[in-house]
Amino acid sequence: MRVLELFSGLGGWRYALGDRGAVVAAYDVSEAANATYALNHGEQPQPRELAAVSVGTLAAHRADTWLLSPPCQPFCRMGNREGLGDPRCRAFRHLMDVLQEAPPEHLVLENVLGFLGSDAHQLLTEQLQAQGLAWLDLEACPSAFGLPNQRPRAYVVASRRPLVSQPIPQRESQPLEAFLDAGEDPSLYLSPEVFARHRHGLDVVAAGDRRSTCFIGGYGRRYVGSGSFLRTPQGVRRFSPSEVARLLGLPGDLRFPEAVSLETRYRLLGNGLSQPVAAWALAHLA
Ligand SMILES: C[S@@+](CC[C@H](N)C(=O)[O-])C[C@H]1O[C@@H](n2cnc3c(N)ncnc32)[C@H](O)[C@@H]1O
Repeated sequence: MRVLELFSGLGGWRYALGDRGAVVAAYDVSEAANATYALNHGEQPQPRELAAVSVGTLAAHRADTWLLSPPCQPFCRMGNREGLGDPRCRAFRHLMDVLQEAPPEHLVLENVLGFLGSDAHQLLTEQLQAQGLAWLDLEACPSAFGLPNQRPRAYVVASRRPLVSQPIPQRESQPLEAFLDAGEDPSLYLSPEVFARHRHGLDVVAAGDRRSTCFIGGYGRRYVGSGSFLRTPQGVRRFSPSEVARLLGLPGDLRFPEAVSLETRYRLLGNGLSQPVAAWALAHLA
């Protein structure tokens, strides 16, 4: 596969792709995401606003596969649910025009569950149908793949070739202790005052537990509903970025440029995808 990785973030799709193919170009507008991608994958994504990238430029990569995770806020439970009317869908709408003029052989899209049934989903499937690609709408959560993390997501897997159904493995989740750093960063602990203020809304887990809630982009600054917190003999702390990366099935030694703040590291991870689930979605392509 010759892959265009669109809205590439820190390169979750590239990790999921493994040796099934090669990324011929990645695109993302975020400087921090692109610097992180470059540090880990050795190649710099195109720092472009995708709504302004021409059909000719995208077609010139001669990619046969699009892997994409468009912004999910227009389809989120906590977002405005404006779908295509949200300005953050501009790039997606442009890509649907590109799809008409230079369609790939395969396409896999990842998003929140609210994407399914949205106007954006309808537009995508209309364009796929018009181009003769068959598709499957899938839903899966990493907790069925052995990871103690809730992150239910939708995948639309499309291809010009027949798609191959793949069972969800239904593995028992490992305990969180298998995902923790060897040493601890004391700065991740909540002060007693902060803990007392948020204690009723916090999701607090222990190392022996086999679950954690979805880590969202705001985990570094929010408390309630942003992801789980870990209770240790020393108190209650945030999971570190490398621990969150492992819980997403990404390499635990994923690196960040020094200039990328802790809050931004959490944002990049919270925007990311669960690698084994994305690899499972990709396996539907023959
Ligand atoms: C949901 S995240 C995708 C994360 C990615 N799959 C990963 O593994 O990290 C969406 C990404 O799209 C980028 N983005 C949002 N709007 C964009 C646009 N109009 N053009 C290019 N990139 C955009 C954001 O910077 C963000 O990194």
